[in-house]
Amino acid sequence: MGPQVRKAVEPVVVPLLKGRVSHGRLLADDEELETAPLPVSGSVIEVGAGSGMWVSLFKEIGFETASIASSDTSSNVRHRKPEASVIASTSGGITKIYGVEPNESNHTALSRRVIEAGMEDVYEIVPLGIEDVGAANIPKVDCIVTVLCLCSIPSPQENIRALYGFLKPGGRMYVFEHVCNRKHWSIYMYQKFINLFWPYMVGGCELQRDTGRYLREAAPWSSIDLSPLANELWFQAVPHVVGVLTK
Ligand SMILES: C[S@@+](CC[C@H](N)C(=O)[O-])C[C@H]1O[C@@H](n2cnc3c(N)ncnc32)[C@H](O)[C@@H]1O
Repeated sequence: MGPQVRKAVEPVVVPLLKGRVSHGRLLADDEELETAPLPVSGSVIEVGAGSGMWVSLFKEIGFETASIASSDTSSNVRHRKPEASVIASTSGGITKIYGVEPNESNHTALSRRVIEAGMEDVYEIVPLGIEDVGAANIPKVDCIVTVLCLCSIPSPQENIRALYGFLKPGGRMYVFEHVCNRKHWSIYMYQKFINLFWPYMVGGCELQRDTGRYLREAAPWSSIDLSPLANELWFQAVPHVVGVLTK
């Protein structure tokens, strides 16, 4: 399902990771550059990396951020000049990625995509669930990326708090997740019914997680730009939240 899912969600996920989504909507090219979230950069945890659908995007973003940085010396963090070692990295402004993925059946495809992207020296597969990553002694990171996986992790509130703990101060968490429908009781009840069997068919995925609230309440974020995805209507059976939370 990976490629179909990527095709369906990349119109949101690509701009999200590039810092071009705010208040649930895509920013136009010339819009709000000063206040828009920063793109993913530095060291990264990708939660639920799956079969590696976003590996090539990390490479693209890393080079974009490194080239923006090297062509502009203004004091804005978005345009901060990177260290020479960062530019020399095979993924530009992204220095390290920990791809947390417990499902061994995904590892072959994930490794293949890492090799295809030429990111073997940057992308490390962590074959654990997020609930066990504390034991892996990963250093704190600049960014965490979660795309359609907080629906599947155990004890989401507890583990989202743990994710906050993995971020450096000022670190950013990029989120695109499906959530429960709170806009209309009929769709809420419909989700509840479908969810009786959905998790057994879709790898433990829960349809009714209130992930936006779990994220907001997880910890004292310094800023939260997390909203329902614009243009999704009240009857959406699988509605989403999208945005960036900063520690
Ligand atoms: C719907 S897939 C999304 C994969 C990928 N993020 C993408 O967008 O293609 C959900 C992923 O979460 C992973 N997952 C399940 N339980 C997890 C856990 N406890 N910790 C981290 N990832 C988990 C699954 O193995 C699966 O790869």
